[in-house]
Amino acid sequence: MTGENHAMKAIAIDGPSGAGKSTLARSIAKTLGYLYVDTGAIYRTIGCFTRENRIDPKDEAAVLAALPRLRLEITYGADGLQHMLLRGRDVTEEIRLPEMSLCASAVSAHPGVRAYLLEMQRRLARENNVVMDGRDIGTVVLPEADVKVFLTASPEERARRRMLELEERGTPQSFETILREIGERDWNDTHRAAAPLRQAEDAVALDTTGLSFRQSEEALLRIIKERIPA
Ligand code: DC
Repeated sequence: MTGENHAMKAIAIDGPSGAGKSTLARSIAKTLGYLYVDTGAIYRTIGCFTRENRIDPKDEAAVLAALPRLRLEITYGADGLQHMLLRGRDVTEEIRLPEMSLCASAVSAHPGVRAYLLEMQRRLARENNVVMDGRDIGTVVLPEADVKVFLTASPEERARRRMLELEERGTPQSFETILREIGERDWNDTHRAAAPLRQAEDAVALDTTGLSFRQSEEALLRIIKERIPA
C-alpha cells in the first residue's frame, strides 16, 4: 500500500464460510459509516459466469481466458448495498444460490483469478473507509489494514446458521448436506496454494460459537474501537 491510503481506514474480516462475516461486517459498516465490501461476491460472480457458460471452474486456463469478457463491476445502490454486475446484468441475487458456492470456491483457487481481482479490491480501500470481508484480506489484499479480525465458529454452528439462512431464502437443504459442503469448502479454502485461508499474525481471533448476533457485534465493535479510537 502506498502513502495515499493512510487517510482511509480499513477493517479486514477474514474467516471460513458461514462464520457470520457478511452479516456482521455489513452491520458494523453501517454503524461506522464505512463502505462494506463483500469480496466473496466477486468470486461468486465469476463462478456464476463459468456455470452459465459451461466452463469448467477448475480449468484455470479456460477461466482466465474468459475474465476479460465478464465486465465485472461492483456498484453501490441508493440503499448503500453492494451489487455485482456481470456484463451489465445485476447478478446480486443469483450468486447466492447454493450451487454457486462450489463454483466460486473452485475459481478462487486460481492464482491468475486472484491477481486479476487484487487491484479492484485495493482501489475500493484507497478511495473509501471500508469493512472488507473475505479469506485473504488481512494477509494479502490489505496487509496494512487498521484492524484485522479472524472470525470463526464451529462447523456445526456454521451449518446450523446456514440452514436457517437457506430456509429463509426458500432454498432449504438438509443439515448433513450443508455440513458436508462446509467441510469441503473449508478444505478447499485452506489447502489451495494461492492465498489460502489463514489467520494473519496481527489479526484478532473472534470465535462466535455460542454468541448471539448482538454479542458478536458488540465484541467486534470493541475490538475495532480499541484500534480506531472515535
Ligand atoms: O464468502 P463466500 O462464501 O461468499 O465466498 C465464496 C468463495 O470465494 C469461497 O469458497 C472462498 C472464496 N473467497 C476467496 O477465496 N477469497 C476471498 N477474499 C473471498 C472469497
